[in-house]
Amino acid sequence: MDNSLRGKTALVTGGSRGIGKAIARALYGAGARVIIAGRDPKALIRAAKEIGEIICVPADVRKDVKKLFRYVDRLDILVNNAGGMEHLGKFEKTGLAAWKSTFELNLFSVRRRRR
Ligand SMILES: NC(=O)c1ccc[n+]([C@@H]2O[C@H](COP(=O)([O-])OP(=O)(O)OC[C@H]3O[C@@H](n4cnc5c(N)ncnc54)[C@H](OP(=O)(O)O)[C@@H]3O)[C@@H](O)[C@H]2O)c1
Repeated sequence: MDNSLRGKTALVTGGSRGIGKAIARALYGAGARVIIAGRDPKALIRAAKEIGEIICVPADVRKDVKKLFRYVDRLDILVNNAGGMEHLGKFEKTGLAAWKSTFELNLFSVRRRRR
């Protein structure tokens, strides 16, 4: 642990697996207080068991930003990592709802405020 981020609080959305989990691990390793968010509570707990003493908040960034910030008292580092294209398929078979959901996840979630 290098402690260069000691005293800092970091929030990593999509921190339960993949790139987000790796970032959360690195931030924790540098001494930050780390909060991870994602939809699947079991995946969050699995990640926390691997990483260490971090805070898990089950939240869908498309709609739970206010809920998420109930658990975030201060914020020094924000990693807007949650994203993906899970709802998109072949263009001609992908409905408007899927496009909207994809934009909510990858674009508007970043802009949403806590208040
Ligand atoms: N891997 C690549 O090659 C690559 C390339 C370019 C860009 N990216 C971008 O990098 C980011 C991470 O990629 P990855 O490959 O590590 O993704 P991943 O393995 O699919 O992990 C995605 C993470 O985001 C969470 N997530 C998904 N939808 C969410 C939602 N609505 N609300 C909250 N959390 C949500 C997932 O948890 P839950 O499913 O439990 O919510 C998971 O923790 C994404 O934004 C992706 O688009 C990745």
